Formats: sequence, structure tokens, C-alpha cells
Amino acid sequence: MEDKKQQMQEANRMKRLPQYLFTIMDNLKQQAQAQGKELIDLGMGNPDLPSPPHVVEELIRAARDSENHRYSRPYGDVEKRFRKAIAQWYDQRFGVHLDPETEVLPLIGSKEGIAHLSLAFLNNDDIGMVTSPTYPVHANGVIMAGGILYNIPIGPENNFRPNLKALSKEVVRMTKILIVSYPHNPTTACVDLDFYKELVAWGKGKEIILCSDLAYSDIVYDGYKAPSLFQAKGARDAYCVEFHTCSKSYNMAGWRIGWAVGHPEILRSLAKTKSYIDFGIFRVVQEAAIQALIGPQEFVHQLVETYKKRRDLFVSGMQAIGWNVPCPKATFYIWAHIPPKFRALTSLEFSKLLVSEAGVVTAPGTGFGEYGEGFIRFALVEPEDRLKIALERIKKVLAISG
Ligand SMILES: Cc1ncc(COP(=O)(O)O)c(C=O)c1O
Repeated sequence: MEDKKQQMQEANRMKRLPQYLFTIMDNLKQQAQAQGKELIDLGMGNPDLPSPPHVVEELIRAARDSENHRYSRPYGDVEKRFRKAIAQWYDQRFGVHLDPETEVLPLIGSKEGIAHLSLAFLNNDDIGMVTSPTYPVHANGVIMAGGILYNIPIGPENNFRPNLKALSKEVVRMTKILIVSYPHNPTTACVDLDFYKELVAWGKGKEIILCSDLAYSDIVYDGYKAPSLFQAKGARDAYCVEFHTCSKSYNMAGWRIGWAVGHPEILRSLAKTKSYIDFGIFRVVQEAAIQALIGPQEFVHQLVETYKKRRDLFVSGMQAIGWNVPCPKATFYIWAHIPPKFRALTSLEFSKLLVSEAGVVTAPGTGFGEYGEGFIRFALVEPEDRLKIALERIKKVLAISG
């Protein structure tokens, strides 16, 4: 009998996904570590500093209460207080008043919610529109939901903003979701409130969900204030939704807690989708996140100071070694054009070179979409002394004849 090798086939929509950025990077790291390389990891945007001590204390306290060990239910006591805390936080940060019952939805991290938004709303003939480059789940969520992914290229020529006026009528007619995210990962581009005012005006009368991912609103420098989509007049009455997270502001990336705010109809469908899949967030984590949001915010200011020092050191260090990179007004990333000498390489090839020759891990630009080609992203998630070593090592790579 012929011995036929069988292979379980994934769903076709999964085959359409690009190779996942962090999987590519993990493979690169493993190969280098197997060769005994000591790595400085500036690849993933994974905050290296601890969560606030009072939040950790609250986690421990709440873990001792066995009522918190049960399934989370949407209208339980902890859940209500968490939604209230989110609404209060929005009020304090942005002066935006939200109804905690209908305009706030807790999530198991914003990534989860963004992926499920596409699942909740996209039919096979609906377009989910994202910028390219973008944070991967914006695009991959559309693909996994079986929708049509439409990339809008952004770059310095359009101020890193999507040119919505250039879209054809047919494309706009087919679009159900548009996702924007500023301060922008990976390019670090920022917008002012006028951007959202124009966005809301553009969306008026269209059945398009305008979605903002505001993960980095707190990681801002030099007096810049990142606005919320909901500060734009009319946003609360339009099909708008905004995602946020405890991951970056409070170094709680591993805790998996975030939220969506916005139009009650959108949140209701998102909650419905989730109700078939998950049971909400561990109540202990919700209790701790409440303390993060309503407790003292000095932690956030100190965190920003730390990132600012790293940014200043890294940007000036890069300039000193002959690689001119822009100084970001927000986020903890540096979006770096590959030096001219190495531009024959793809961003993935150049990232590989930095790992093999310098032991420095970065994120290749194409991990964020095809228009990320030609760039790599540094995440400043290592302390200053390690960044200095990274700079010395990168300097040696730049000296290699290209
Ligand atoms: C723009 C953006 N949105 C969302 C996320 C994911 O956040 P969370 O940890 O809440 O899933 C990230 C993480 O890097 C991000 O950069």
C-alpha cells in the first residue's frame, strides 16, 4: 500500500495571512541564540519595565477573594466598576463623557477587540481599510474575518495620513471599517484634532465604522498631546469606535486588559461576538486595572521621562554614527530608513544582518505591510546602558562595505 503523507489543511482565509512579524523575529532570535549570540532585543514593542506597584498589590489582594475566581459576567459588580473607571479615565484624559453602560466595552487586550471587530462586521464582499504600514492585527483581523483587505499607503509624502479623497466611489461604497491609529505604530506619526474632525466629516452619511486605535496616547513627548477621535465634534453620534489598553501606559502588556469605547450599536455587536468566544477578563485583573486608571498617575509621567531619555540617547547616538533617524514626538519606537549603502537589501534581509552581525533585534518594516519596505523599527524596550551597546554594535555594521 502506498504510504501517502497527509497534511491537515488550514482554512483558506488563514493561508492568506502573511507570515506573522513576531514569528519571523522569534525564528531569527532562536537561530542567533543557538549560535551563542547575546542579543539586544529592540524587536517587539514589549515594555521591559514593571507594572505600577500599587496595581500589583491590588492584584494580590483581589486574588485572595474567591468570588473573583468565578467567570466574569458583563453586569457583575467588578465589571461595572471597571467600565466606570474607563469612562472616568476618558473624561480626565480627553474631557470626553461616556456612558459606562453603553459606550464602554472591556477587552482581553485591545488586539483581541480589534480582531473581533472585523469578525463582527465584515461580510466576504466588505472592505476593511487600513493604512500600510500598520500594526499587524488591523490588517490580519480583516483577513481572518474573510473580508477584503484594502491598504492605503502612507508615508512622508502624505504626512503619514490616509488620503481618503483619492479613493474611488466603488471602494468607498464597499468599505465597512476604516482603521486608523495615531500616535502611529510603526512610523511614530502623530495627528492633531483637525485630522479626526475631517475623518468624522468624511464618514458622515456613510455606513462605515471609523475605528481609532489609541494605544500610545500616553507615550508622548515635548508637550505634544495625542487627541482622541471622540474629541471631534459629532464623533459620538457617528459610527465611531476607539480602542485603548493598559499595556503601554501602565506596562501591563502581559495582563491582557484593554477596552473599546464608542457607538453603542457597534459595541453591542462586538460584545455579542465575544460572548460566543470568551468569558471576559479575570476579575482580579479588572480590579487591578481599576486602580491603574483611577489611582495616582505619576507612574505614567515617570515612564514617559524614562522613554524620553532613551529616545534622546538613541536618536543622538544614531546621528553620531551616521544614521539619521527622525526624533519621534510619541511612542517608544524609532522608524528608521535603511541606510543608503544597504538599500539593495529588503527590510527583512537588513534585520537579519543586524541580528547576525550585531546581535541587535529589530522589526523589519514589511512586518507592518508592504509599504513598510525600506524601513526597520527599533523598540526602545531595553535600558540606556544596553542601548549604548546596541549603538556601538550597529556602528560596526555600518562600517561593513555594503
Ligand atoms: C497600535 C497598537 N495597538 C494595539 C496593540 C496591542 O495592545 P494590547 O496589549 O492591548 O492587545 C499594540 C501593541 O503593540 C499596538 O502597537
